Amino acid sequence: MDLKDHIRSIPDFPKPGILFYDISTLLAHADAWQVTMGRMAKAARAHQPDVIAGIESRGFLVAAPLALKLGCGFIMVRKKGKLPGATIKHTYDLEYGSDTVEIQEGAVEPGQRVILVDDLLATGGTFAASIELLRKVGAEVCAAACLIELAFLKGRERVDVPLHSLVSYD
Ligand code: PRP
Ligand code: MG
Repeated sequence: MDLKDHIRSIPDFPKPGILFYDISTLLAHADAWQVTMGRMAKAARAHQPDVIAGIESRGFLVAAPLALKLGCGFIMVRKKGKLPGATIKHTYDLEYGSDTVEIQEGAVEPGQRVILVDDLLATGGTFAASIELLRKVGAEVCAAACLIELAFLKGRERVDVPLHSLVSYD
């Protein structure tokens, strides 16, 4: 099955000139979604993870079912201010300004093998920041995985762990 047949592209969203790859249609199609998660599980299982970390927000849609499939725990990497209790933060630079990602203290034990999951890789800034955050707490980031890679943005170059993507656009 070609998963691209189930991914819709929407011009000029969220800004003029940007072509947005929308996974809503993939999620809504029962068979395509089963195939998608089967392929994710196959790629991820080889790394023998202990924990699957999902990146807010669309990464959660992929990471939570992946964790269930692999029999792993699921943890959340969230945008700042959303998690209760003590958190560990990592702030990173954007083109204009900065952003912060957070996890809860104790979400990962030092030395645990973590696969980081998102829906899409663009510039790689989100993956790179999330990898640094997980390393701060001593996690071993053994791989990263996403559904869609925008290969023309070369985000892969910023991800220093094995990276799996199911579909790629040039
Ligand atoms: C999008 C996408 C990835 C990130 C990729 O998330 O879901 O998380 O951007 O971009 P990058 O590789 O250039 O960092 P977005 O910030 O739109 O938020 P959302 O997932 O909450 O919709
Ligand atoms: Mg996102």
